[in-house]
Amino acid sequence: MQAVIIYDSLTGNTRRAANDIADELYRFGIGSNLFKVSEVSDAAVAGADLVLVGSWTDGLFVVAQKPGRRRKFKHLLPDLTGKRCAVFCTFALNPGNTLNKLTKLVEAHGGDVVGGMSIRRDDLEGGAAELTQRLVAVLSA
Ligand SMILES: Cc1cc2nc3c(=O)[nH]c(=O)nc-3n(C[C@H](O)[C@H](O)[C@H](O)COP(=O)(O)O)c2cc1C
Repeated sequence: MQAVIIYDSLTGNTRRAANDIADELYRFGIGSNLFKVSEVSDAAVAGADLVLVGSWTDGLFVVAQKPGRRRKFKHLLPDLTGKRCAVFCTFALNPGNTLNKLTKLVEAHGGDVVGGMSIRRDDLEGGAAELTQRLVAVLSA
């Protein structure tokens, strides 16, 4: 099984979370290719069995949260028609509806979102492990 992880990261947390998720998936025999959202293409996801999309949380910390640089995802996400997808976001205090908004963006590109998780920036490894376990359970059900 092969995964593609697409992310945007301003200060490195979401990139680290993406790397941690790739490490965790590898423990379950799933290889990953990682792409910044600004560098991914339709061809990059063509052979993927699972596509993860990750953003950071942008907002006023307790209100108006959304995926950071949401327009990038809107314009640059590849065609995900028929792809099983998962979403994740990193956050400091409160992710609000970031994950739901990211889910809608992925669905607007044709993706079938089967799971997701908001990952607190002070426990990226723990969040990556939990998300991966949830996804593996869904994929093997
Ligand atoms: C401009 C800006 C706005 C942010 N707004 C929120 C917010 O509303 N809620 C929250 O929990 N974290 C917020 N954060 C924190 C980031 O989402 C968090 O640090 C995230 O892990 C950053 O990911 P990155 O290092 O990949 O850029 C904000 C950060 C920035 C720079």
